[in-house]
Amino acid sequence: MSLLDNPFDPAREAALVTGAGNGIGRAIAQALVGEGVRTVFADVNRDTVTAAVKASPRPDLAVPFVGDLASRDACDALLAAAQSAVGRVTHFVHSASPPRREADHAFAVSGETWEQMRAVNVDAGFHLARELARKLIAADEPGSFLFLTSLHAGTPRNLPHYSTAKAALAMLVKELAKTFGRFGIRVNALVPGAIAAGGFVADPALAKHIPLGRLGRSEDLAPMALAVLSNRVSAYVTGAAIVVDGGLSLTTGLSLPILVTCGSPEPRLRGETPEREDTSCLAMISALFEQQMVQPSVLEGRRCRGLGSRCWSWG
Ligand SMILES: NC(=O)c1ccc[n+]([C@@H]2O[C@H](COP(=O)([O-])OP(=O)(O)OC[C@H]3O[C@@H](n4cnc5c(N)ncnc54)[C@H](O)[C@@H]3O)[C@@H](O)[C@H]2O)c1
Repeated sequence: MSLLDNPFDPAREAALVTGAGNGIGRAIAQALVGEGVRTVFADVNRDTVTAAVKASPRPDLAVPFVGDLASRDACDALLAAAQSAVGRVTHFVHSASPPRREADHAFAVSGETWEQMRAVNVDAGFHLARELARKLIAADEPGSFLFLTSLHAGTPRNLPHYSTAKAALAMLVKELAKTFGRFGIRVNALVPGAIAAGGFVADPALAKHIPLGRLGRSEDLAPMALAVLSNRVSAYVTGAAIVVDGGLSLTTGLSLPILVTCGSPEPRLRGETPEREDTSCLAMISALFEQQMVQPSVLEGRRCRGLGSRCWSWG
């Protein structure tokens, strides 16, 4: 049998996924159901959570729950509903998070928006995880919890309510991993990059800063989520932050290095002198100008002067 066969034990394991109505939470919840795991799909939006259940590979294993997880009462209602629908929850995924709006910068964000972001991400995440852990510990059963954090747990996002909530969540993962570990409950963070999933309205131009060359999709997160959640695959992984970002976090304020092939299969590095003339480079350089990947100031004073006739490298 392959190592990756049967990552879950559907007879003993059941899952609860928040934010399962859309985006990454939806993809993870549907993937869990696809592995035969009974899964509660929790979300504030009735329409989307109903659709997510319906579109899942095994709707018979998917249980919808609708409630605003900013409220402690709704969290407790979710715990009770999950217990009665699927029994003991062994796998918890916390993906719910209010929408990010670019207008909510430091001077504009309202107290209510700040509060909602913290309540859904941090307060609900802590309360649900602690109550689920209590049940697992009482039953002497192992578990695995996964929190959706963000690269902006460590870098500003111009949305202070969002980045501070995610920073808190990142530390919560470490706190819970340390405390729950002795009871066989693993706690990890899944850190998406730029995922065009709904909650983040991605500018396609961002793709040029991503080493793997494209924005992410929710489906890019689900396989890694399953691997980390699985006690068979990741039995010795806890307190980790697993980054799934196509390499976006490798990008600093500096642009990606510009490599061109200029008619040769071998990419040319900056500073290299081309072996032969190749006017196709003109089109390539023009395209890079248009994409704003090459600023005129980058070219000036460097060797890339013969735009019309000769391909020179630059950088
Ligand atoms: N998409 C990205 O690029 C990206 C990047 C980094 C981190 N993340 C994180 O991953 C998670 C999922 O992101 P996404 O883009 O799929 O988001 P999304 O907005 O598409 O989905 C979030 C879901 O949470 C639900 N939700 C919001 N408020 C709720 C509440 N009060 N109670 C219950 N449910 C509520 C929404 O209805 C929605 O279905 C989020 O925690 C997000 O912060 C996403």
